[in-house]
Amino acid sequence: MITRPSTRPVRAHFSSGPCAKRPGWNASELATESLGRSHRSKIGKARLKLAIDLTREILNIPSTHRIGIVPASDTGAYEMAMWSLLGARPATMMAWESFGEGWVTDAIKQLKLDADVITAPYGELPDLTQIDQSRDICFTWNGTTSGVCVPNGEWIRADREGLNLVDATSGVFAQDIPWDKIDVLTYSWQKVLGGEGGHGMLILGPRAVERLESYTPAWPLPKIFRLTSKGKLIEGIFSGETINTPSMLAVEDYIDALQWSKHIGGLSELMARADANATALNSWVERTPWIANLAKVPATRSNTSVCLTLPGASEDIPKAIVSLLEKEGVAFDIGAYRDAPPGLRIWCGATVDTADVEALTLWLDWAYATVTA
Ligand SMILES: Cc1ncc(COP(=O)(O)O)c(C=O)c1O
Repeated sequence: MITRPSTRPVRAHFSSGPCAKRPGWNASELATESLGRSHRSKIGKARLKLAIDLTREILNIPSTHRIGIVPASDTGAYEMAMWSLLGARPATMMAWESFGEGWVTDAIKQLKLDADVITAPYGELPDLTQIDQSRDICFTWNGTTSGVCVPNGEWIRADREGLNLVDATSGVFAQDIPWDKIDVLTYSWQKVLGGEGGHGMLILGPRAVERLESYTPAWPLPKIFRLTSKGKLIEGIFSGETINTPSMLAVEDYIDALQWSKHIGGLSELMARADANATALNSWVERTPWIANLAKVPATRSNTSVCLTLPGASEDIPKAIVSLLEKEGVAFDIGAYRDAPPGLRIWCGATVDTADVEALTLWLDWAYATVTA
């Protein structure tokens, strides 16, 4: 029998979204001058613009790309892009886990596009080198529910004719994004930076803007999806004039997360933190016989949403581990996503501390021994 570990994670927050707040986060430290004011006041607009400017600075987004804050979290941003851009040329939808599958459903059942669909089972990626990039392509950079990410952007052609629409909500700030090859990228604040849910980020490259200004979809667009007016991009959206009312408290919290990111050393340090967390977890996986990484190919293993399976175990075992560790207060929200194969999913993004991941592994050993005894 394994003895009960004496070290506990200082922060037991390992959820894959909303994710752990940054180390040292304290609600009372958030700036509140913009609260209770119009988001279109001078201060409101300045704070929204600061959120955009800091995003550009931390993520090294070139001036060729516009950055907008839009409604309804990553889903809002991604669907806004799909509804506004798709239909102009043939599209290919790629999916290797639940969220990508959701975008396939949108394209086929809602937009009724005659799109090609390329899928891979949980734990795998399709062959990205075979993707026809004369078509528009939609995919998820980091599959949050399978722990499989695209290893890099080398397969994205610089001379592609189609647009790529990239859902990078659980990859951005932890994985390197080749902005020169990105037409549309979306994410939300509550993932790698541990911000609050509610708003989406929509990043548009020049070719996406060109499409928006030259193509009108056949279907109606609700006001919260509309990015153009009289055939021209609504530039205000990309300088902080949001389409409708944002939560300024969520905006202040996002600014806090961005300032923390800058303070610790920016993107390279955010990526290094996620890498160190995933390495700590994966080295435990390697020395532990009852657990395996769901992502088969090491280069495609996520450094944020690490998904683990228990080969040969009944699905009651991971469930029992999850509830035991939650009851002990040492790990919250580490069950696999509801549509994914049974197992564990442990968030390793930048706001998590490596010492906490290491402490968690001791508890995982203890919990497994306890529930299988
Ligand atoms: C890859 C991916 N896409 C989309 C979503 C939905 O994001 P949101 O709740 O921010 O709309 C999630 C949430 O976990 C996700 O992981």
